[in-house]
Amino acid sequence: MTKVTLAIENISELITVAGENAPRMGKAQGEIEKIKDGVVLVSGDKILYAGDKKNAPKYEKSDDFVLIDGTGKTVTPGLIDSHTHLVHGGSRENELDMKLNGVTYLEILERGGGIMSTLRQTKEMSEDELFEQAKKSVERLISYGVTTIEAKTGYGIDDFNTEMKQLNVADRLGKELPVDIVKTFMAAHAIPEKYKSNPGEFIDIVINDYLPKIEADGRCKFCDVFCEKGVFNAEDSKRLLEAAKKHGLTPKIHADEIEEIGGTKTAADVRAISAEHLIKCSEKGVDELKEGGVIANLLPGTSFNMGDGIFAPARLMIEKGVPVAISTDYNPGSCPTENIQLCMYLACLNMKMTPAEALVGVTINAACAIDEQDKKGSLMEGKLADITIFDAPNINYVLYHFGVNHTDKVIKNGKVAVSYTHLTLPTTPYV
Ligand code: NIG
Ligand code: FE
Repeated sequence: MTKVTLAIENISELITVAGENAPRMGKAQGEIEKIKDGVVLVSGDKILYAGDKKNAPKYEKSDDFVLIDGTGKTVTPGLIDSHTHLVHGGSRENELDMKLNGVTYLEILERGGGIMSTLRQTKEMSEDELFEQAKKSVERLISYGVTTIEAKTGYGIDDFNTEMKQLNVADRLGKELPVDIVKTFMAAHAIPEKYKSNPGEFIDIVINDYLPKIEADGRCKFCDVFCEKGVFNAEDSKRLLEAAKKHGLTPKIHADEIEEIGGTKTAADVRAISAEHLIKCSEKGVDELKEGGVIANLLPGTSFNMGDGIFAPARLMIEKGVPVAISTDYNPGSCPTENIQLCMYLACLNMKMTPAEALVGVTINAACAIDEQDKKGSLMEGKLADITIFDAPNINYVLYHFGVNHTDKVIKNGKVAVSYTHLTLPTTPYV
């Protein structure tokens, strides 16, 4: 008999998100079973059983067996943050005053700030320094329940060494911390100064010079591009993503973040796995995503932080059967937060998604957005034992009591990675 290494019993609300390893769309995005008095059994790094108590198999315990009491707790698949700009140098709090005075994100970028400022800061920092900075963010992401992170390059752009430095750091984070890092190549994140008048020329360089090197390097799974007014147009984005496919990279695209310039059509044309942001996506755009089988990866933390109250049309997407994933977009400019629980809350409050839909957005649909659905995104026999335990009696509680961290424990590959003990204040008054 297979020995059980870890068991969670008496779970108040167990949400396995079990089903096909495929994106949930339409009504199915919100239809998840909530099991009372659930049990999860783990053997090594895999799930052996996740379901109700009465069907749980009798089991033998391993010598190092760990028992976790799930009383009063909600248990879900480990959360997946399928869109971040994790590795970067420095920060941009100096832009806050400008932003509060009405200077827009693209205006800051045009003035040489924004992404351009992070490019300079990332170039200046050593790999070790970048690692130490990103490590803090990974620790925060894990603390919010995240077990897999997608991380993009894009703060080197035409400085290929810096792009590689970002990749090296992302790789090391995955090796040294209890988290998986999935890597995306995004040199087409901003127009380098010397290609300002001809962004297409830089795209040629990315296609002819960088992509072969990235393919040979073998660490990136995806290629992304910032398809936006004043950045890369739909035509150049399409050219790049078509070429990326030839080099074994799956396309992703930042589309309709600030203006709708054809990114959804491009996403559909190149059969992108996901289109990101989609804040300004029209009904036609939603139809294009549907036709192209593209996952809408929505980033409500960014909308919130842009401050203009405009959010992606998640309800329309769900009604039309486009699967929706939710991510943080963690980056030093448009969304400097690692709090994925807050992003889920914003998906509910501002995009009118239900807590169940938001949970699907950070589990199975997020897994599909980074092609990890066969091993992650749901708690089912044989899948990886990546599990998040919330100190909350149900998922609705997590998404109603907002702005705080509800994580109790995070289990990565069957081992407890984070366990919170609540702060105990001294009973004797301070003197
Ligand atoms: O997804 N829009 C492009 N990239 C990021 C922001 C990066 C930055 O501001 O440094 C985003 O919003
Ligand atoms: Fe982004």
